[in-house]
Amino acid sequence: MERTAELSLWTPPSWRTRDALQQPEYPDPAALEAVLAELSALPPLVTSWEIVQLRQLLGEATAGRCFVLQAGDCAERFAACTPNRITNSLKVLLQMSLVLVMGAQRPVIRMGRFAGQYAKPRSAATEVRDGVELPSYRGDNVNRAEFTREARTPDPALLLRGYERAALTLNFVRALVKGGFADLHHPEYFELDWAARSPLAEEYHRMVETINESLRFTEHVLGVRAGATDRIDFYTCHEALHLGSEEAQTRHVPRRAGYFNLATHFPWIGLRTNSPGGAHVEYMRGIENPIGIKVGPGTTRESIGRWLEALDPARQPGRLTLIHRCGARRIADELPALIEATRAEGGNVLWIADPMHGNTQTTSSGVKTRRFEDIYSEVEQSFDIHRALGCKLGGVHIEVTGENVTECTGGSNGPSESDLGRAYESEVDPRLNYEQSLELAFLIARKMKADEQAA
Ligand code: PEP
Ligand code: CO
Repeated sequence: MERTAELSLWTPPSWRTRDALQQPEYPDPAALEAVLAELSALPPLVTSWEIVQLRQLLGEATAGRCFVLQAGDCAERFAACTPNRITNSLKVLLQMSLVLVMGAQRPVIRMGRFAGQYAKPRSAATEVRDGVELPSYRGDNVNRAEFTREARTPDPALLLRGYERAALTLNFVRALVKGGFADLHHPEYFELDWAARSPLAEEYHRMVETINESLRFTEHVLGVRAGATDRIDFYTCHEALHLGSEEAQTRHVPRRAGYFNLATHFPWIGLRTNSPGGAHVEYMRGIENPIGIKVGPGTTRESIGRWLEALDPARQPGRLTLIHRCGARRIADELPALIEATRAEGGNVLWIADPMHGNTQTTSSGVKTRRFEDIYSEVEQSFDIHRALGCKLGGVHIEVTGENVTECTGGSNGPSESDLGRAYESEVDPRLNYEQSLELAFLIARKMKADEQAA
């Protein structure tokens, strides 16, 4: 009864009564409200039946029957909404997922950090350069990255430009998935030159050959062209940070109960905005989408209990995903307590490892980077810790790009610290490049296979 009473008070704008962290300060609040009204009248980007289907699939993943690959840019850029970039990012996600299927021996659910990953939380509200203080860059949905007052002033019209680019991206992704994109499954499109530098090269080539054989079997023997299916098998996700724009795209749909966020299949709450009493949790409480929360060192049992009560009172598998990001050096001390606390609170959540955000470092010359070895180490430890506690890691959350950037160090053919300047593009967090992403997928697949054999 108490829960029903609490839920009945939820409305799409009820988050406005709570403390909303990380929201931009617009110079003209009326202009923002006008844009949000416009946004709320535009068509949805995704449909309720896709959302319901993903929620069911994530329930399967919670039970250990699927594995999740959640990957893409830290922050998408409007300028990267181009045919090449979109195709490359789809290619790296698809190839990683095929490699993971080999290791997991179960279906892989692909969720792209794309088509809407345009708003970023920042650790400081302002940035100072040469004595000049300006608002921090908060993602292309909010302001522009150049260090001028004009560019850094939040502009509500950017929300419309972001909505349009998300729609253009999704439109192209859906067309590619439905049609000619199937070719990117094929092993001849895997670029494996880097693997020659790895002692595991032969094993990687064998894995690709196995993928090749399964595809040949599906296509020639069963007569099914792989990938040429009407069902979308890419889902979108983004951090639900800018609550005004999330609210504007939250709707009722005919013949279904409840409200849906129709801007994305899977919104998540970042670490900086996950307070159980805060506006972001309040917003997420009332939508039907499957949702995620980032957790890490410092997450308490009390928070876990309050999230479960607010967001998943019925403890339904698929509703709630906890994405842990502890860092390779801290995970052994931190993760067991998170798992125990969740169990003690009766949670039945999907666990996903984010090995990126706890492993960010700054080099002596001030460049933000991550070491490939730390990233893999955190994933490997995640598998071991979950298994030792009698549960199963259900997926990985990774910042990647299909481009040949030099943002993270290491891997068989990866840049060293002194190479980072060569092709460093990210305005926010460093991403694995194409080669590093594939290598990580191979290592994870190898680990899953070895664990399966040992079981
Ligand atoms: C992110 O996913 O880009 C991010 C900011 O992560 P976190 O909330 O875990 O710091
Ligand atoms: Co990031």
